Amino acid sequence: MIDKNNKQFTRKADSVVVHGYQGCDPLTGAISYPIYQTSTYKNPGLNSNIQFSYSRCDNPTRFELENTIALLENGTAGYAFASGLAAVTATFSLLKSGEHVVVSDDIYGGSYRQIEELWKNFGVEFTAVDVGDTAAVKAAVRPNTKMIYLESPTNPMMKVADIAAIAEISKACGALLVVDNTFLTPYFQKPIELGADIVIHSGTKFLAGHHDTTAGFVVVNNEALEKRMGLILRTEGSGLAPFDSWLVLRGIKTLALRMKRHEENAIKVAAFLKNHPAVEKVYFVGDKEHPSFDVTMKQTTGFGGMISFSIKDASKVEQVLCGGDMIMFAESLGGTATLITYPQTQTHASIPAEVRNKIGITDRLIRLSVGIEDAEDIIADLTKMLS
Ligand SMILES: Cc1ncc(COP(=O)(O)O)c(C=O)c1O
Repeated sequence: MIDKNNKQFTRKADSVVVHGYQGCDPLTGAISYPIYQTSTYKNPGLNSNIQFSYSRCDNPTRFELENTIALLENGTAGYAFASGLAAVTATFSLLKSGEHVVVSDDIYGGSYRQIEELWKNFGVEFTAVDVGDTAAVKAAVRPNTKMIYLESPTNPMMKVADIAAIAEISKACGALLVVDNTFLTPYFQKPIELGADIVIHSGTKFLAGHHDTTAGFVVVNNEALEKRMGLILRTEGSGLAPFDSWLVLRGIKTLALRMKRHEENAIKVAAFLKNHPAVEKVYFVGDKEHPSFDVTMKQTTGFGGMISFSIKDASKVEQVLCGGDMIMFAESLGGTATLITYPQTQTHASIPAEVRNKIGITDRLIRLSVGIEDAEDIIADLTKMLS
C-alpha cells in the first residue's frame, strides 16, 4: 500500500511524473532511480522479515514504478507486468469458473482473443455490450456478474463509457469495475476517482512512450484487492523486469509534456481529416460531434492522441497506410512517433470478420496514433498518403 503521507500527494501530476514516488533513491540519492539488476537478495538471518527476497516477487526498481503508477492513478497499490496483456491476464485471474463478466464489445483484439481462447475455456462467462450505452450495460448484468470490464475510449472505435454511471451499476450488483486507461493515461483520466475498482494499462504505450519496451499495469483501490493481485503477480510470475521498469520510469518523467503535445497535434490532425474529401468519418473524443462529447468533458481533462477514421474508397488503403515519408505503418500506439495502423489485419485481426464489421472495424477503418512531431509535418505526410 502506498503511503498517503507521501509529499507527492500534495503535488500536481506534472510534478509527480517527474519525481516518481520517492523522488530519488533513498540509499544513494541517485536522481535516476537505480536499476536493481538482481534476481535474488542476501537474507540477513533465519526468520528475518525482509521486503526483497527474490525478484520475481519484489524488486526495488519495479516497486518504485508500481508506487509511481499507483500515486498517479490515486489507487492504493500498483503492479507492473511484462506486458499489457499480462496485466489483463492477472485481472481476469481474479475470477472463478461460473462467474460472469459484462465486457465492452469494442476492445483491443488481444484482450478479445484472451477472452475467447483462454477464459471461456475455463468456464468464465462473458456478455459483450456497447459501453457507450449505460442502459445496455445495466441490462447485461446477471446474478453471477462479478466484473464489468471496459476500455474508455475504446480501441479502435473511440466509444466513451460514462465511468461514474457504470460504477454505480457495478456497486449495486457487487461487481468489480475494471477500466483499461491505456488511451488517456492518468494524466487525462483517473477512473478510480470516478468509482472504478481496478485500472489497467498497456504501459507499452503512452506511459513508456518511446517504442522501446513492453509493460503493463494493474492499479487497485483497496487492501483486499492488493492481497489478491500481489499473490497473482508472484504466482503467475509475470512481473516486469528491472531494466524495463527503469525504462518506463524514465518514460513517465515526460508524460505530462508528451500528453499535452499528443493532444495538441491530434486536435489539428482530426480537424484536417474531417475536412478531407477522401475521409468518410473521423472518430476522435475531442470532436464536439462525438456522441459522448459531454461525458468526455465531464470525466477527463484531455482528449489524448488517438484518432480512428474511415476512408471512402477501400482500394486506397495501401496508399494511405504505406504512402507516408515520416508516418510509419506499424502496430502499437502512444509513442513519440506517429504510427498508422490497420485494425482489420493488425491489432484486431483475431476478431472474426462478422463481429468486427458489426462494430465498425471494416476494411476502410484506419487508426492513427498521433505523435509529438511538428503538426504541420504530420499533416503534410497525411496529405500525401490520402492523395
Ligand atoms: C487498450 C489496450 N489494452 C491492452 C493492450 C495490450 O498491451 P500490450 O501490447 O502491452 O500487451 C493493448 C495493446 O495494444 C491496448 O491497445
